[in-house]
Formats: sequence, structure tokens, C-alpha cells
Amino acid sequence: MSNPARQFPPGFVWGAATAAYQIEGAIDEDGRLPSIWDTFSHTPGKVANGDTGDVACEHYHRMPADVALMKDLGLRAYRFSTAWPRIVPAGSGAVNQAGLDFYSRLVDELLAAGITPYVTLYHWDLPQALDDAGGWLNRDTASRFAEYAAVVGRALGDRVPMFTTLNEPWCSAYLGYASGVHAPGHRSNAESLAAAHHLNLAHGLGTTALRSVLPQSVQVALTLNLAHVRPATDSPADLDAARHADALSNRIFLEPVLDGHYPADLLADTAHLTDWSFLHDGDLKSINVPIDALGINYYSPTRVQAATPELWDQMPRGFVNDPQSAPGPTPYPGTDLVFSAPQDGPYTAMGWRVEPASLTELLVDVHSRYPDLPLLVTENGAAYEDVLSPDGAVHDGDRLAYVRDHLAAIHDAIGSGVDVRGYFLWSLLDNFEWALGYGKRFGVVHVDYETQLRTPKDSARWYGAAITAGGF
Ligand code: FCB
Repeated sequence: MSNPARQFPPGFVWGAATAAYQIEGAIDEDGRLPSIWDTFSHTPGKVANGDTGDVACEHYHRMPADVALMKDLGLRAYRFSTAWPRIVPAGSGAVNQAGLDFYSRLVDELLAAGITPYVTLYHWDLPQALDDAGGWLNRDTASRFAEYAAVVGRALGDRVPMFTTLNEPWCSAYLGYASGVHAPGHRSNAESLAAAHHLNLAHGLGTTALRSVLPQSVQVALTLNLAHVRPATDSPADLDAARHADALSNRIFLEPVLDGHYPADLLADTAHLTDWSFLHDGDLKSINVPIDALGINYYSPTRVQAATPELWDQMPRGFVNDPQSAPGPTPYPGTDLVFSAPQDGPYTAMGWRVEPASLTELLVDVHSRYPDLPLLVTENGAAYEDVLSPDGAVHDGDRLAYVRDHLAAIHDAIGSGVDVRGYFLWSLLDNFEWALGYGKRFGVVHVDYETQLRTPKDSARWYGAAITAGGF
């Protein structure tokens, strides 16, 4: 491919992403203590098929071979998360050098392979000891996070160009505390708002802690799974539901971090749930510290409608769910005023609608709200029902098309002036897909969980060729 039709800018970062609990296994080795996901996955009924991250992809033991595989695929960057329960196993206090050493070796291995490491500090594996003290409902957790961030920054900051504080605080807050489909599995809209605030505080305090230990050239970012929200109809009630969903999913994070305030409409719409007394004087100042880039994770658009008594009547009592994975209308986590609305296909194996153009719109929208903020797509990818062919290959044309079309959507956004600096495909490997266990395969590399054999799928080879060509 000499002159690809879609040529990406020089310096565009081509990577793939994973997260610690989803791939590492080795949950009780070298001083690691349990996280909320160990507890949750070992609680009957919480994860499909009773799956846990106990073994996962055994990446903790296979790391050098996995890095060699990344090199063979042609990856230029790798976004991974460090496990807080390996590094500060009790959540605060003693640092476990063996845990830090694993990530230090990973960074060295990547650099030797010509792959740039991107570190995410929190991809949902809160040390269980901190949950025992209240988890994200306890504002002290934010300070503990800042201490842990400084530990990692000090150890890896000489070799890592960008640290991301949190991955998708929306999931931690709303799936962890409102719908309860993620650890720690609480079901309270009021709690989810307190958790969201404490996560924002953790981001702000963590950013400041990182700056105090990192060389000046090292960047600090935050990754959000921003929702591209559309109303189900043009009725005033549905338009209002879309406004509220945008506040709950997007502006609750963007505005305190980037503008130094919470949206007034959010405070008004949630006043019947909480008095926001968890928001203390000075918090917004701690949260609103400069970041160097915003990571955006995007999979599927969001469609919402106003909650009605009829919709509530259709719900099994107390039923709540992840709006992206439910086929029918379900309560939108964090509020009793909005329901997610069904969407047409095409769908991935998650039941998520495939709509690349909404990624372009989302990027254009964020850029118009924050024109000076560099953006990175830090996750994008798809689960499909993969078939291992007799020849040992996985001909995943559906995933290949998904990745290609979303890269094209990013290319379109860049063409209209949006500063998108990179793309991290989710995911390098099939892995533990949280509440859905190992049944949903997002990898561009197939993992046989019996033998731990890795087999690059067609999508991985296509992506490698696109990286080499700088486009497609
Ligand atoms: C995102 C998560 C990631 C993975 C993908 C499919 O919400 O950040 O760990 O589960 O979804």
C-alpha cells in the first residue's frame, strides 16, 4: 500500500489497549491482594458463567511473549493499566516492589520492541481494603489514589510519555453503584453521584500528584467513555431526557475537570436524589487542573427516552442494566427520569449498534466544546462470534470492517479539523469482559483459554498493514 486513500497525519499514535484485571491472572502472586473485581467475580451470579480473572490470559507470566507478539503485529503503542492491588496492595501504605517491578519490566520490554507505553492507573480494580472502608463513597479514596499515582509516576515516569488517571469513571460510578452490574455491585442512584464526584476528585488530586513527580515533558490525561446521546423522538420530553443523559454521562465529568463547575441542570435534576453535600469547598479547584489530552472510548451510540409510568411498569422490580447491553428500554443508570431506548442494528455480539458516523460527530462535538484539547481514541473495537477455522485462523471480517470504518470516522473528524492524536484498538487479546466473562471476545488476537495459545485474527493483520502504511 503506497498511497493509502485515508492517510493519517505523521505522528498519529497506532496502538492497542488492555487492562490489568482482564488479562493478567496471577491474582495472588508476588504480593497482590484482592480487588473489588476478585470479590465481585467470586460472588455467585455476578459474572456470566461464573467466570473470574483468576487466570485470564496469564499475561503476568507470558508478558515477554505478548510483547513479542505486539511487535510482530506492527503495533507502535500499547495502552495497559497498572493494578493498584499489586502496587499498593492494601490500598494505602506499604508499596509492593515486586508489583512495581512487573510493570517496569513491561515498560522496558515494550521500549526494546519499539512500542511506546501508555499507562492507565485505574481500570476498575480498586483494592478490596479500600472498598471495605467505603470505596468510591469515601472521599479518602481519592487521596489514596493520588498517593498510588505518585508511586507509579515515580517508578515509570522516566520511560512513559503519558499517564492516564482513570479509565471510564462513568462505569465505575454508574455500573458500580447504580445499576450494580459491575463491582462493587451497589444499586443506588444517589450513591452513583457521590462516587462520580469522588472519582473526579481522584482524577484531580492524582493529576497534581503525578505532576509533582513526573518530568515536565510527560503528559497527564483522563479517559472518558463519552456518550453520543440522541433522543428517541423529537418530543419535548425525550429532548429533555437527552439533555439530562448528556449531563449525567458527559458533562458531569467534562465540566468539573475542564471548566471547574458542575452543570447547573445536573444539580437541579438530581436534587430529589441527593443534596450534593459530598461536594466540599475547594473540591472543584482540586478537580479543575490542566490536563494534556482527553482520551475518548467509543463503541456505540446512546438513544434515550423520557421515563414514563408505563415504562416503569414493564420493568421487573428493581431491574437496572447497562444501557448499552440491554435490548429493550431500561432505566438509565443514575436517574429515575430517563430510559435508554432500543436501537436498530447492525449489532455486535454485545448487542451494541454499529454506527461509525456517531464517532465522527462525538469527536467534532467535543472539539467544538474544547477546541484546544488534544484528543485520543483510547478504546474502540468489537466483540463478534468468532469461528476458529480448520486452518487455525479466525476470519473476522466483521471486526475488521468495524475497526476500518471507525478509523475512517476518525479520519473524517481529523479532516474537519479535530485534533485526534491516536487510536488504541480494544483489544489486543480476547479477555475477561467484566460481567460477561470470557464469552465476549474483543481481541484482534484469539486466545484459547485452555492452552493459552494466541492466534492473530485477520483483523490484527489488517491493522498491522494499516499501521505500516499510515492509513488504508
Ligand atoms: C470498556 C472498558 C474495557 C472493555 C470494553 C469492551 O467499557 O473500558 O475494559 O471492557 O469496554
